[in-house]
Amino acid sequence: MPNLMNEFTLKNMTIKNRVMMSPMCQFSAIEKDGMPTDWHLHHYTSRAIGGVGIVMVEMTNIEERGRVTDYCLGIWSDEHRDAFKPIVEQAHTYGAKIGIQIAHAGRKAENEPQLVAPSAIAFDDTYKTPKELTIIEIKELVQKFKEAAIRATEAGFDLIELHGAHGYLIHQFLSPYTNKRSDEYGKDRTLFGVEVIKAIKSVIPYDMPLLLRISGMEYVNGGYDIDEAVRFSKIFKEAGVDAFDVSSGGEGPIDPAGKPGTHGGYQVPLARRIKKELQVPVIAVGRLENAVLANAVIGNHEADIVAIGRGLLANPYWTLQAASQLKLDNVVPPQYITAF
Ligand SMILES: Cc1cc2nc3c(=O)[nH]c(=O)nc-3n(C[C@H](O)[C@H](O)[C@H](O)COP(=O)(O)O)c2cc1C
Repeated sequence: MPNLMNEFTLKNMTIKNRVMMSPMCQFSAIEKDGMPTDWHLHHYTSRAIGGVGIVMVEMTNIEERGRVTDYCLGIWSDEHRDAFKPIVEQAHTYGAKIGIQIAHAGRKAENEPQLVAPSAIAFDDTYKTPKELTIIEIKELVQKFKEAAIRATEAGFDLIELHGAHGYLIHQFLSPYTNKRSDEYGKDRTLFGVEVIKAIKSVIPYDMPLLLRISGMEYVNGGYDIDEAVRFSKIFKEAGVDAFDVSSGGEGPIDPAGKPGTHGGYQVPLARRIKKELQVPVIAVGRLENAVLANAVIGNHEADIVAIGRGLLANPYWTLQAASQLKLDNVVPPQYITAF
C-alpha cells in the first residue's frame, strides 16, 4: 500500500512524497504590480524546508484585470518571471518541486473597475457586473495564458496548475450558471478550457506536468454535479491535462440545499470518482490536515497526492510532523532532528 511519504512519479518527474502545499492567495504582492515580495520567498521556502513534495504557488494571474484583488500575484511580464526565480531556486535547494497556479478571476475580480466574463452576470449584488467577452478578447486571453506558461517555464517552475475551479474564469465558461453565450463558447462550455490547455501544452516542455484544478461539483441551485465534472474532465484529459486537483464550488452564492461539507476529507469522494473514471493521477484537497486521514486517502488509492491548505498555513512543518506521527520514513533536515 502506498503511503504519504512514498515517492510519486508524474510524467517523468519524481516527487519525494505525496504532500502538496495547496495554492493559497497571500494578498501580499506589491500593490497593483502583482510582484512577489519577501513574504512569498519566505512563506514558500519555509514549506519546502518543512518537507512538502510540491509547493504550489498561489493563484497567479495572466493579466492585471484578472486578479481577485490589487494585492494578488501576476505573471504578465518578464519582470514577474524574473521575480519568481529566487522562490523557485529556494524550493529546489530544499528538495521540493514547485508549481504555479495560473489563473484569471473574470467576474470575481474585486478591485477592478471593468470586469470581464463569458456573460454579463454579476457574482452577487456586492460585485460589479462584468462585460461579456468578445470572441477576439477570448482569443487574446488564450494567448495570455500561453505567455504566462512560457514565463513560468522560463522561471524554472517544475509544473503548472491551471485554475479551473472556484468560480474563476475557466470555471465561469464551464458552468451553465455563468455561461449563457449563444456562440461556440456557449454551445461548447469546455471550449475555452480546451483552447487554454492546448495553447499551454504547445509551449511547455513535453515532460512538464500540467495540472487542472476543477470544482468537482457546484453548490448553486441547478449547478453541475460530479457526473458532469467527469464528462468535462475527460475532454480536458484528452486536450492534455496530466493530473486533476479536485476541489468544489465557488461559482456563486451557495444554495442552502447545496451546502458543502466541512468535515475531514469532504471532497475526497469527488477526487476518487475522477481517478476511477479517468484513470489519471488525482490530487485530493479539503480538510486533510489529520495525518491519519491524509495517509488513508493515499493508502486506499482514493488519490495519488493530498493537497494541504490551512494545515500548512498553521504549521510549515506539517509534513515532518505527519511523517513522525505515522512513523514513516522521512528526511528531517539535520538541523531539526533533535526535535523529532
Ligand atoms: C487563505 C486561502 C487562500 C486560498 N487561495 C487559493 C488559491 O489561490 N487558489 C486555489 O485554488 N485555492 C485557494 N484556496 C483554497 C485552498 O487551496 C484549499 O483548496 C482549501 O483551503 C481547502 O483545503 P484545506 O482544508 O486544507 O485548507 C485558498 C484557501 C485559503 C484558506
